[in-house]
This record gives sequence, C-alpha cells and structure tokens, in this order.
Amino acid sequence: MNSYLPEYFKEFELIWESRDTYTIHLPKENPGKAGQFYMLSSPGIGEAPISVASGHLREMLFTIRSVGTVTSKLPDARVIGVRGPYGTSWPWERYGKILAVAGGIGIPPINSLFDEMVGTGRGKDLEIIYGARSPSDLIYHKQRKEWAKMANVIITVDKGDPNWKGNVGFVTQFISKSETDRDGAVFIIGPPLMMKNSVAESLEAGFRPENIYLSLERRMECGIGVCGHCNVGEFYACEDGPIFQYSAVKHLPELFL
Ligand SMILES: Cc1cc2nc3c(=O)[nH]c(=O)nc-3n(C[C@H](O)[C@H](O)[C@H](O)COP(=O)(O)OP(=O)(O)OC[C@H]3O[C@@H](n4cnc5c(N)ncnc54)[C@H](O)[C@@H]3O)c2cc1C
Ligand code: FES
Repeated sequence: MNSYLPEYFKEFELIWESRDTYTIHLPKENPGKAGQFYMLSSPGIGEAPISVASGHLREMLFTIRSVGTVTSKLPDARVIGVRGPYGTSWPWERYGKILAVAGGIGIPPINSLFDEMVGTGRGKDLEIIYGARSPSDLIYHKQRKEWAKMANVIITVDKGDPNWKGNVGFVTQFISKSETDRDGAVFIIGPPLMMKNSVAESLEAGFRPENIYLSLERRMECGIGVCGHCNVGEFYACEDGPIFQYSAVKHLPELFL
C-alpha cells in the first residue's frame, strides 16, 4: 500500500452500528497496528483520519461516526479511498497487563487492540472499560460478546433507559475497581474531558504516569508531518502520535483541548 496515494475500493461492505455510526469493511489485509490511523476519502468529498478498528493483518475495518463533511457522505460514496497506515500504535507488547478505557467513538482502536492481543494468545491480559452516552449509543454488540469471552469487560452508559439493566456512570468511576496490576499500562481514548478525568483517576488508582497512554485527536490534513495542522505543543499528532505517553506530554497546556 502506498502511504502517499489512496488505494480506491469499489467493493466494500457498510454496516450501521447505531443511528449515527457505521462500520466499513474493506476487502484488504490491514498492514497497520492497533492505534494507528488511515486517511479515508472519496473523490470530491475530502479526507478524514480514521483509526483502524481491526487488528494487524486482519480484514480492514473502520468504524465511523457521522459528524461532518466527509463522515456524513462516505455511506453514500460509490468509491472509498484509503491511504496509510500512519502514526504510533498502542505499545501493548511492552506490558504484562493492559487496562483500556474508551469513551464513545474512541472504541474502534480498542477493538483493534483486542484483535491483536487475542491473535497472540494474550486476550486475558486485557481489561476494557467502555462507556457511551446512552444504551442506544453503545456499538459493537457482536464484538462485545467476543471481548467478554477473553477479557474482563465493563460496559457503562452516562444515562440509562427503562430497559437498561447494566452500569450507569462515567467510565472514570470504574477505573479504581480495575483488576489490572498497577504496574500494567492504561490506554485511554475518548473526548478530551473524559481523557483528562481518566488520567486523574488512573493516577489516583495507583497506575504510573509513564505507563499511561493517550490517543490524541487533532484536525489533520496531510497525515504525514508536512502541513503542520495537527500540532500538540512541539509534537505532530499524525507522526509523533496519535498515541502519546502521558508523561511525555503532560506539560502541554493544550493537552486536553
Ligand atoms: C488519529 C485520529 C483517528 C480518528 N479515528 C476516528 C474513528 O475511528 N472514527 C471516527 O468516527 N472518527 C475518528 N476520528 C475523528 C474524525 O477524523 C473527525 O471527526 C473528522 O473531523 C471527521 O471529518 P468530517 O469531514 O466528517 O467532519 P468535519 O466537517 O471536519 O467536522 C467534524 C466536527 O468537527 C467540527 N469542526 C469542523 N471544523 C473545525 C475546526 N476548524 N476546528 C474544530 N472543530 C471543527 C465540526 O463542527 C464537527 O463537529 C479520528 C481522528 C483522528 C485525528
Ligand atoms: S496532519 Fe499534516 S502535519 Fe499532521
């Protein structure tokens, strides 16, 4: 795959996960690693950075929330372009145990992490805390059953409904109850406030700052460190990130903006 030029697909499958979120299956092996992203496009509608949702060398999946120009038009596109993979990945191989904390549309790269860890027989070393605004915003019904067979999984919603029998509360409330060894790593991805509070809770729960990793979302144009659109302090989110070690970026005033 050429990193600079999109490869175009006319054949692909698109499945709606919820009222505003869909998954695109491309008939191609994913050369990327969990946490990395690709630039997705279609002629005439522009490009958007999207994390890969499947593991290394698995069929390429992307799960996308329709929020703006590109992401709202991709479901009607006849051709989808993909270039990448770009950026850094979750460094799970360095750690014995991993706690992954995901909010909202932060969950796709955690599904990718799950795929990768299970693929190497390390599914039991993963714990997942996944939160969404409401039960109807929770996605990955099938995948969640697969996670639960291998990993310790906590699912929660900010606000329940009359049919919801599960946890209610922010993901941050569940970090102190994590079964993950405190010398393990914490991978956090989600909206800025959720990430800020999850870092504080992880530190409070006894995880080390150097073992905490964040996936930072910034507006991107080139994805390859050329245009300067995605800077976070002295770093570029597209090249130095999107996965950053918390202790390397905690000094940045714009970290959680
Ligand atoms: C590394 C990375 C991985 C990502 N992975 C995923 C993923 O797996 N799934 C997914 O759904 N999304 C993902 N995103 C987010 C996605 O790339 C953005 O939501 C992107 O902006 C969507 O493009 P769009 O053209 O549809 O939306 P846009 O038209 O760009 O608008 C998106 C939102 O941003 C706001 N906005 C528009 N312009 C600006 C501006 N100049 N400054 C600030 N806000 C603005 C809009 O009001 C709107 O709410 C990822 C982002 C990054 C950086
Ligand atoms: S997106 Fe162009 S430098 Fe990062």
